Amino acid sequence: MDSIATPLRQLLYVSSSNPRGAKIDVPEVVAQSRHNNALDGVTGLLWSDGKRFLQVLEGPADSVATTFARIKADTRHHAIVVLHERDIAAREFGTWTMAQRVPGDSADAFDERIRRLLENASETVRGNFLGLIAARNG
Ligand SMILES: Cc1cc2nc3c(=O)[nH]c(=O)nc-3n(C[C@H](O)[C@H](O)[C@H](O)COP(=O)(O)O)c2cc1C
Repeated sequence: MDSIATPLRQLLYVSSSNPRGAKIDVPEVVAQSRHNNALDGVTGLLWSDGKRFLQVLEGPADSVATTFARIKADTRHHAIVVLHERDIAAREFGTWTMAQRVPGDSADAFDERIRRLLENASETVRGNFLGLIAARNG
């Protein structure tokens, strides 16, 4: 349960792999993230094709700040741009979820999975994720 006294923060950013065009080991990132985020009470969603990243982080403001500072210092990606950062009344993504296309998933199945994950998200978050997915598929 989130404490009423602690404001919840949501941060959405995009980035690209470093060096440019390199494919980074996304499952490794997810494993690290799940471990750390669970300890810190941070949840969200990471979308990646290995070369581009769109991530939303949600949790107590100080935890989100600490997590994002660590992510920013990671040399596996660069060109990090914060799309928005705001206080939220409740988490839009209940649990940490990684949307990654797994072998055997069709593009449609993948997109459907993302749409389901985004059902409770704000217009901004949903628009950003869906825009990136559309750009990749187009
Ligand atoms: C695109 C991207 C997203 C990441 N997201 C998270 C995250 O949500 N939480 C986290 O703890 N680390 C995340 N990381 C990893 C951190 O940058 C860093 O490597 C990690 O937190 C170090 O963990 P450790 O000290 O347990 O080894 C991410 C890295 C990348 C490249």
